Amino acid sequence: MKSPRALPMTVLAAGLPEQVTIYEVGARDGLQNESAVLPTEVKAEFLHRLAGAGLRVLEATSFVHPKWVPQLADASDLLLRRLVRTEGVDYPVLVPNERGLDRALDAGVQHIAIFASATETFAKRNLNRTLDEQFTMFEPVVRRALAGGLRVRGYLSMCFGDPWEGPVPPDQVAAVARRLAEMGCHQLSLGDTIGTGTPGHVDAVLDACVAAGAPIRQLAVHFHDTYGQALSNTLAALRRGVTTVDASAGGLGGCPYAESATGNLATEDLVWMLDGLGVAHGVDLDTLVATSVWMAERLGRPSPSRVVRALAG
Ligand code: HMG
Ligand code: MG
Repeated sequence: MKSPRALPMTVLAAGLPEQVTIYEVGARDGLQNESAVLPTEVKAEFLHRLAGAGLRVLEATSFVHPKWVPQLADASDLLLRRLVRTEGVDYPVLVPNERGLDRALDAGVQHIAIFASATETFAKRNLNRTLDEQFTMFEPVVRRALAGGLRVRGYLSMCFGDPWEGPVPPDQVAAVARRLAEMGCHQLSLGDTIGTGTPGHVDAVLDACVAAGAPIRQLAVHFHDTYGQALSNTLAALRRGVTTVDASAGGLGGCPYAESATGNLATEDLVWMLDGLGVAHGVDLDTLVATSVWMAERLGRPSPSRVVRALAG
């Protein structure tokens, strides 16, 4: 007889939110970094399975320049012809500029995410703009999106270190956060693009953003797991009252324009920890693991998620 699968024992810890929203980025942050370009119908099925696992926010794709990220060049086809939407699921997309917004509007998008850099070098490398010019690029995007009733999330990259510039002062991050909040972003996602942050550093960045006028409820965290710190950093953020956590099914992810960016915090690893802490999240772990195993087969390599590996064996 097969033994029942392992479960964490639920032991509540003080000072944590009762509920967390998982903002799933596997289909965007995950697939943008794969050398293989997956067929559009596989992406659509991935999203459908993620929704079936209970995830309610699925970043679906990206309306960036197709030459910059060929892996997601099929964004319009995916949204207009392939994706079968699940009721109650939000499907935000990345949009850098007005051309991207036009394409996203044509595809019926309701929720977009602009993505700013906290550093000069990464703004140039990722957006071909200076730090100031990125805001000039975003301004008409946000204005038109809000006027059209869309919601706009703002990402900040390189909040915890930059591979070219080294340490990034929290006040520099906070200044970018403030500008995005003033533009009208409903949520700010603080990205540890290269995964160098540690929990005390998370406190410092959150403190700086709050001091700059962004309330904690407006902040989300986006940790890449390059140095194995993503889960501890998430716990630090939850203790400070953050209730939206970005994660990627199976730990897929990275940024093609950031050296040493590897996968995001794996959604399964996050779910395991939240289950142990008794924090509600709405995800069925077994369905999610099965989805990541299915995706790993499509990609031809095993998932880096520890929980997927432990449960799929
Ligand atoms: P550019 O070369 O400066 O573009 O790129 P441009 O404004 O000079 O336009 C040049 C041509 O591209 C024009 O065509 C435009 O129409 C066209 P032409 O008139 O010459 O025929 N064009 C577009 N076509 C389709 N869709 C568009 C688009 N925009 C311009 N959206 C640009 C500037 C922002 C477009 C480029 O730098 C770009 O696409 N960058 C995106 C890079 C990217 O996607 N990186 C990964 C996502 S960010 C990330 O992963 C980090 C995150 O996860 C958080 C974290 O981990 O920290 C979010
Ligand atoms: Mg990322």
